[in-house]
Amino acid sequence: MHLAKQKPIGIFDSGIGGLTVMRAIRKILPNEDIIYFGDTAHLPYGDKSTEAIQSYSIKITNLLLSKECKVILIACNSASAAAYKLLKEYVGSKANVLNVIDPMISLIAEKYVNKTIGLIGTKRTIHSKVYEKKIHELGLGIKLKSLATPLLAPMIEEGYLNNPILHQTLADYLSRSEISGIEALILGCTHYPLIHKDIEAFYQGEVAILDSSQAVANSLYNLLASENLLNSQTKAGKSSFFVSDYTQSFQEAATLFFGENVRLEYYPLWE
Ligand code: DGL
Repeated sequence: MHLAKQKPIGIFDSGIGGLTVMRAIRKILPNEDIIYFGDTAHLPYGDKSTEAIQSYSIKITNLLLSKECKVILIACNSASAAAYKLLKEYVGSKANVLNVIDPMISLIAEKYVNKTIGLIGTKRTIHSKVYEKKIHELGLGIKLKSLATPLLAPMIEEGYLNNPILHQTLADYLSRSEISGIEALILGCTHYPLIHKDIEAFYQGEVAILDSSQAVANSLYNLLASENLLNSQTKAGKSSFFVSDYTQSFQEAATLFFGENVRLEYYPLWE
């Protein structure tokens, strides 16, 4: 049995988008062992029902608990919206459960009192209204305007980066009245950091682009520090990358999302 602080951090996403979050975590927590699970067999989560996402999330959580993870981080907005509450209850005191939405809500509460901000994400995230509810509960006069942008995640997965079709699709989405007149835009999908620059270019500096990966990494760091769970090993932490369906294109995209070489391992969770 490991000491609690030496146990790994478990991260999961519908696929490889959550690697943008893991990348930010790796930078500030180099000594942690991290197990990443991408449910590529069920991608995309953004179009699935709440019930389906909840059942996938429970099964993945069981796997991460069996690997003794001290923290389970849901690195997917769609799964954070659909399954965070359930997972928190399900896991109880066995591990800490984190999502990618709450750190963004804290950041907005600090910087955007009485302002109008926008949100883009998958259908599941936008239709859940979870960001609206949390922002409303803050009672800080923040107005949220949101738009589902379901074409973006598949395009990014297909490697349509720096591509005129991506730019046209972005221009079409970002010009819609649903998200007009905003001061900042939340990237409510863990795939979108890869097109951060394209979104920034569209707004030409007039709208701040809010990417949650850094905020999530900071909140994970703070949690580990406050619970005395920071890994004290001096060597670099081990990273393992599991997927429920392996293809060469996932392998190539994973390296792109993580920013360095990744070796995906097939894990037969659904067999
Ligand atoms: N990475 C997921 C998210 O943050 C989007 C991809 C999907 O639909 O599975 O919502």
